[in-house]
Amino acid sequence: IPVAPFDLVVFGGTGDLAKRKIIPALFRRFVAGQFEEDARIIGAARAALSGAEYRTLAEEALKEFSAEYVENSKEVAAFLHMLDYVSIDATGDGGWEELKAKTSTDRVQAFYFSVAPSLFGALAERLHSYQIAGPEARVVVEKPFGRDQETAKALNATLAEYFDETQIYRIDHYLGKETVQNLMALRFGNMMFEPLWNNHYIDHIQITVAETVGVGGRGAYYDKSGAMRDMVQNHLMQLLCLIAMEPPAIYDADAVRDEKLKVIRALQPVAPHHIVRGQYEATDTAPSYRDDAENPRSFTESFIAMRCEIANWRWAGVPFYLRTGKKLRARSSEIAVVFKALGHSIFEGDTGPHRNILSIRLQPNEGIDMTVTVKEPGPGGMRLIDVPLDLTFAEAMAGTDSPEAYERLIMDVIRGNQTLFMRGDEVEAAWRWTDPLINGWEARNDVPKQYVPGSSGPEDALMLLHRDGRRWRDIKA
Ligand code: BG6
Repeated sequence: IPVAPFDLVVFGGTGDLAKRKIIPALFRRFVAGQFEEDARIIGAARAALSGAEYRTLAEEALKEFSAEYVENSKEVAAFLHMLDYVSIDATGDGGWEELKAKTSTDRVQAFYFSVAPSLFGALAERLHSYQIAGPEARVVVEKPFGRDQETAKALNATLAEYFDETQIYRIDHYLGKETVQNLMALRFGNMMFEPLWNNHYIDHIQITVAETVGVGGRGAYYDKSGAMRDMVQNHLMQLLCLIAMEPPAIYDADAVRDEKLKVIRALQPVAPHHIVRGQYEATDTAPSYRDDAENPRSFTESFIAMRCEIANWRWAGVPFYLRTGKKLRARSSEIAVVFKALGHSIFEGDTGPHRNILSIRLQPNEGIDMTVTVKEPGPGGMRLIDVPLDLTFAEAMAGTDSPEAYERLIMDVIRGNQTLFMRGDEVEAAWRWTDPLINGWEARNDVPKQYVPGSSGPEDALMLLHRDGRRWRDIKA
């Protein structure tokens, strides 16, 4: 179904995110027939480009980053026709009158701030003072949303001077992933999981987001943030919330976000011995983390594993083990819900223990599998084995085209649906939890443990679970 005509202004329209994600996502939605002909996409950045030059830049971006470019070459011209450009001075006056002339306040306007957060205030202020933003204006902001609670509060306050919370869309692109949304479908669309979803039946939960890439190329940014700020405070926290939250009464923006906020608020402080930080070493052919970060004395972590607890009625006593890192064995993100072992087995000689494990594979090879215990085939006695009941989405839903995270999220902005975006209080609460942990290791000059690229992280991370009599799931693609 096409969306109503809109103007989308991309500040930072010549930047990396615009080229890699935003323009290709818009193109796919265009090809899918979701845009009315008079939709307008306006790039805005410092560079002095003409509209034609910007369209060339966009076409180059599609060639490089969009798999659809070749197949849909006929559509490219029509898509590019929607694009325009304004050279703008974010902190001065240049370009703002021109921008005003190119967008109208009587339609949906989305202003995408794909720029450094230090510019949010200047942009918001000018959208207001030049009377560019109309009643249906929305602003879209990317992470990092601050680097601690204080800076996040300040950003929220700055945006709030010019826009209402209902107009602010804070992106966490993990929420745009199909499989992440599926967590809610799974929990709240089925009868069989929710009754077991608590500390009576669940032993522990593991959330792994493993990557094979290093930080080469973006070391300057990464070295100031590390895995905690880059991944845990946002993406892993969102996964944790969706797994742990109470059922909202209705699937709408505030109902869902209220429940997520309660989870974040119930997170307990994590003791230092429940956190393992790591940095990847060099190999014969590849640089170390410190080389990539161009900081030979860096104490920033490219890996983190931690044991978290949620202090509420449902989850008391159930550890949530989180881990994420760069240059690990495989690119693989998974949530594993490990159920308790049977208290008593009626099968004599069975060596057990058997556990049901619900594994939700977020990427790649998206799907769900459930380890169940069955009888081993054969004439012998009742020997039991554990086998997976496997649901691979690509097979089960063959033929359906699932949109990329950014496609879904940008369309939600245009439609005015905030469910998959973070509310201001949620982001602040997430920082309130991570701040003392980060401050703690900064104060102690905590040195991350080295780990071998292509491994599962430092040895100490394995110990984190061994100590509790548990083990991590294998990281495999
Ligand atoms: C980004 C982080 O938010 O997410 C990157 O800044 C990380 O460091 C990326 O690589 C992972 O996203 P995805 O979609 O590839 O899992």
